[in-house]
Amino acid sequence: MSDKIEQVQSEALRAVEECGSAEELQQLRIRYLGKKGSIQELMAEMKSLPKEEKPAFGQKVNLLKAAVSQAIEARQEVLSAGEMDARLAAEKIDITLPGNRTEIGTIHPLQLIRRELEDLFVGMGYTIAEGPEVELDHYNFELANIPKDHPARDMQDTFYIDPNTLLRTHTTAMQMRELEKAEGKLPIKLICPGKVYRRDDDDATHSHQFMQCEGLVVGEHITLADLKGTLEYAANVMFGGGRKIRFRPSYFPFTEPSVEVDVSCPFCNGKGCSVCKHSGWIEILGAGMVHPHVLEINGFDPEKCSGFAFGIGLERMTMLKYGIDDIRNFYTNDLRFLKTFDRFD
Ligand code: PHE
Repeated sequence: MSDKIEQVQSEALRAVEECGSAEELQQLRIRYLGKKGSIQELMAEMKSLPKEEKPAFGQKVNLLKAAVSQAIEARQEVLSAGEMDARLAAEKIDITLPGNRTEIGTIHPLQLIRRELEDLFVGMGYTIAEGPEVELDHYNFELANIPKDHPARDMQDTFYIDPNTLLRTHTTAMQMRELEKAEGKLPIKLICPGKVYRRDDDDATHSHQFMQCEGLVVGEHITLADLKGTLEYAANVMFGGGRKIRFRPSYFPFTEPSVEVDVSCPFCNGKGCSVCKHSGWIEILGAGMVHPHVLEINGFDPEKCSGFAFGIGLERMTMLKYGIDDIRNFYTNDLRFLKTFDRFD
């Protein structure tokens, strides 16, 4: 019987010693220490022994069990250390390899100018209003004092979707929506930036899609002087200090009087250069006092309030500011062009 114990012991210890993986070791644990394992079998054989031999035999089997458990534990430690080493080696990352560069885009120049204008006007207490590019004739024309058959409709060649629906030709449509929404309540002080569309043949200075940012202020005692002061301040922020503003008479159906606004040339400081065609002035936007009829049809009393409005063309402003000479650059998505505008400008 003792021989058998020794035999199991030497066999088990050798198997444990030679075992190469945690899985295999688990099998050995079951084979020797499990409920139906070899050591349990030896225990069972104790029954058939004479009484006086039982204690000595039991002791030996217990020693065997302890020895095998200990060997398995020891082997377990060796194996898991080895497995960890192997995993570390397999998952090793070469941190000296050059990484994959992630392309980071730049902000579109029109977007840069839009944000700059938004910051500027929000800083003066204006809110920002946005609305649909597919617009009703009612807001784009009718409420802006341009009824059907009005000759001013020819000034803005329009993409119609059906007789009442169109792609808005100016952000003035948004001003009309806001005036209507206010239901006669004062004051109104907002800008409406956004895309507009006109049936133009594209060339270096025309695009059938472009961007505007219009401003609208309605309140008590608003005058042309307020408009001038506001635009002068804006021109100084956008084009650098020392800018002057000049008004020239013009015509828009929704403003009376209407003006064309020039800024003193930021490139030559008004002395005359090729950018300002030697006039010292650059036309930057159209503006005027909100037409009393527009106030009236939108539910305001022109006897009690007045307002000014202005419409900035973002492409023109951006072209002036960055010296861009072809409007098509904004819409052809040439990365060489777009990348010259630093993301964090
Ligand atoms: N809506 C005019 C245009 O698109 C610009 C403008 C806006 C003029 C507001 C005066 C007042 O040409």
